[in-house]
Amino acid sequence: MSQRRIKITPPLLRQMKRKSEKIVFLTAYDYFTARALDRAGIEGILVGDTLNMVFYGRENTLSATMEQMIGHTDAVSRAVSRALVVGDMPFLSYQVSLPEAIANAGRFLKEGGAAAVKLEGGMEMASLIRRLVEVGIPVMGHIGLTPQSINKFGGHKVQGKTEASRNYLAESAEALEEAGCFAIVLEAVKNDIAAKITATLKIPTIGIGAGPATDGQIMVINDIMGMDEEFYAKFVRRYFNLGEKLREVASQFSNDVKRGDYPRDSESYG
Ligand code: KIV
Repeated sequence: MSQRRIKITPPLLRQMKRKSEKIVFLTAYDYFTARALDRAGIEGILVGDTLNMVFYGRENTLSATMEQMIGHTDAVSRAVSRALVVGDMPFLSYQVSLPEAIANAGRFLKEGGAAAVKLEGGMEMASLIRRLVEVGIPVMGHIGLTPQSINKFGGHKVQGKTEASRNYLAESAEALEEAGCFAIVLEAVKNDIAAKITATLKIPTIGIGAGPATDGQIMVINDIMGMDEEFYAKFVRRYFNLGEKLREVASQFSNDVKRGDYPRDSESYG
């Protein structure tokens, strides 16, 4: 079996950090996108609650439901044979009570086919994470700009600008590692605090808008594909203009139909 087909596991990610090999995650929400990303050989696929924004067109992630997340996680998991599939726990699926959090996290593995879950929050989530890990559910942490808390932050604001925020991030990262997280997403934090956390932890940090020092990077697939022509974020590198291309293809097809060029004999059953 070639090296590329080795199934990615949490211990393997830790090993990659030890060897200073960069780790790549992307989000996916459907079967065929996930299959393409898996075939590209990336290490991880997150079924993010950004689903609510980039797939369902809502303003933020807050109204994503467990049913949506499980359905899309199942579609992604069935397409993936190598990458680590992580299901993102939606807002209020893990904050209300411990039994509910365990049951909901378990659904990602039992019904969604994921290998792990991700949840947002710092040191205040440590005891929940410890319990999830104890029952056999690998957990990816997520600190910095945690979009489920946008109302608390007052918007999508870069974190780690004040001494208090920097201390909170550094202490939270250590608490999450100690609680058993296998990796931590650092979102929209100042480069130097991301670098400091990355150097302190044994588990990998996966950055999004956190600069170059993190052990890996994650991006929302729709953002790097340029699906939403109006979306801009400083940290997003846009590789394609999918939104524009879709418009072009739809208009070409429409022209072909209207001028009688489609279908031709070769495209008909005769
Ligand atoms: O929901 C998501 O896609 C995420 C990534 C942006 C890290 O949490």
